[in-house]
Amino acid sequence: MQKITAQELRQKYLNFFQSKGHSVIPSASLVPENDASVLFTTAGMHPLVPYLLGQEHPKGTRLVNFQKCIRTGDIEEVGDDTHLTFFEMLGNWSLGDYFKQEAIEWSFEFLTSKEYLGIPLERLAVSVFAGDADAPRDTEAAEKWESLGVNPKRIAYLPKENNWWIAGTTGPCGPDTEMFYWIDDGTPAPENFQKTSEDKRWVEIWNDVFMQFEKQADGRLVPLKKQNVDTGMGLDRTLAVLNGQRSVYDTEIFKPMFEVVGLGNEILSNEEVRKARVILDHVRASVMIVGDGVEPSNKDRGYVLRRLLRRSMVMARLLNLQGTWLKALVGQVITAYAQAYPYLVEKSENVFAVIEGEQKKFENTLERGLKELGKIIKKSENVAANSKITGKEAFDVYQTYGIPWEVTAELAEESGFVVDKKEFEIEFKKHQELSRTASAGQFKGGLASHSDKIVRLHTATHLMNAALRQVLGDEVWQKGSNITEERTRFDFTHGQKMTIEEIESVQAIVNDWIARDLSVKKETLPLAEARKLGAIGVFGEKYPDIVSVYTVFDPKTQEVVSREFCGGPHVEHTGAIGQFKILKEEASSAGVRRIKASVS
Ligand code: ALA
Repeated sequence: MQKITAQELRQKYLNFFQSKGHSVIPSASLVPENDASVLFTTAGMHPLVPYLLGQEHPKGTRLVNFQKCIRTGDIEEVGDDTHLTFFEMLGNWSLGDYFKQEAIEWSFEFLTSKEYLGIPLERLAVSVFAGDADAPRDTEAAEKWESLGVNPKRIAYLPKENNWWIAGTTGPCGPDTEMFYWIDDGTPAPENFQKTSEDKRWVEIWNDVFMQFEKQADGRLVPLKKQNVDTGMGLDRTLAVLNGQRSVYDTEIFKPMFEVVGLGNEILSNEEVRKARVILDHVRASVMIVGDGVEPSNKDRGYVLRRLLRRSMVMARLLNLQGTWLKALVGQVITAYAQAYPYLVEKSENVFAVIEGEQKKFENTLERGLKELGKIIKKSENVAANSKITGKEAFDVYQTYGIPWEVTAELAEESGFVVDKKEFEIEFKKHQELSRTASAGQFKGGLASHSDKIVRLHTATHLMNAALRQVLGDEVWQKGSNITEERTRFDFTHGQKMTIEEIESVQAIVNDWIARDLSVKKETLPLAEARKLGAIGVFGEKYPDIVSVYTVFDPKTQEVVSREFCGGPHVEHTGAIGQFKILKEEASSAGVRRIKASVS
């Protein structure tokens, strides 16, 4: 096979699907538009969700692009051969147009045709959905692969956990067929993929999802009016395997980055390689995130960015990177992506300024933070049999010095310690909720202020959420909220404008619960148990393994009126809330309504 560059791979993909009648659409921003349920675009299909659910796309029913994505769920794995926080996904879509037959035929042609990737059949294997109560065994996909020349032994039927795709927990979804490449390590690919599909040398490079359903919040699968195809080919991975490289960090994208930070010719230990890869990955992701307008902060996207940058700075210090390593690296990332994302060059001045600004800010505190951490580790060393740093200690170091928890964990581990992650998450969540509800809404050193008014509005918001579900039905899910001294603003899923009667009933129910002076209690529970109890949370939000749950209930009858994942704070009994009033009901975005309400 010939060597290929990243830009050639992008271009070949677009050309191929254009030749099959697809329109090229640009990569959407990493910051999802009109979607408060996720922080970043995590897959090529994500910006297309409204179209996969039936809305008409202005560019037609066949689309193709390369899409920037961020996934931080596996941040701890970054630095091995395959994990990245930023990556690009090559994707083609059918919006109610072609389905399995064409999707598979074209995937096969693109992979094997000499004009495109020219992968020999001996190196390819595929998996298809094995079938369950939700959807049948996908013999159609298997037969199609076979008809194209794939050896039946190279077709594995795998269960939902492998061959079913959904972004998050609700939305368009369906069975998929995945394509694997046997990497070149001198061993020929085994003939039988069914028995060897777990072998790491089979690298998944492409996924064709046959989207037939929409998963509802209550778990039901509702068939979509039109069947869609959603595909995703990981650019870094495919580039690596096509060029005979073992790791995504060995490609032409990363090589010059190692060089500009002065590690191009160094002989590094495995641990040093991991740290260097983390630095490159995190700075690359940071450049792309800043390029889409995000700035470091202590919440949401800004906090993810801050973590990535700060973690890379700590790693750089541990590797003794000199002088202007960060500036050089930012410059190299922009160079590497200048052709695919020309706007980065236009915005480069701002990208440099934002990242260097964060570097300056962090330099001062890093030194002191590391000293403090050293002290904690030393203190723990002195306590016999205590090789643990508590979540509270890790959180304090984060809170005071801004040292991300992974960094604390990492440094502690180097001295043979572990950090209690669950406890850290509980502390963090607690704090996050406090900061969300505080009027300034930010970490401000010490606990964020939470006035009596804000606490009352916070509990009123839970009651309103429960009342909305009573009046409008269980399809109502919270999408976001924001509380200031004046009002609570609450976004929720609902397809149409509320009627006056509906608004009045919600208001009356909440005021009735207030008049009954119900009790409010807080519990800390494992996530599964909380779900079993029917606790509800923010739509699409990921919760830690241990959660805090607030329940509003009648102490006499034990009737529960509201149970939500939440860090608080709340009033202890609803009588303290005062009179509740809905001020406004309006559209927020497609399928999402917004209510503003006050208490007095
Ligand atoms: N949406 C599918 C994925 O990300 C193609 O794998």
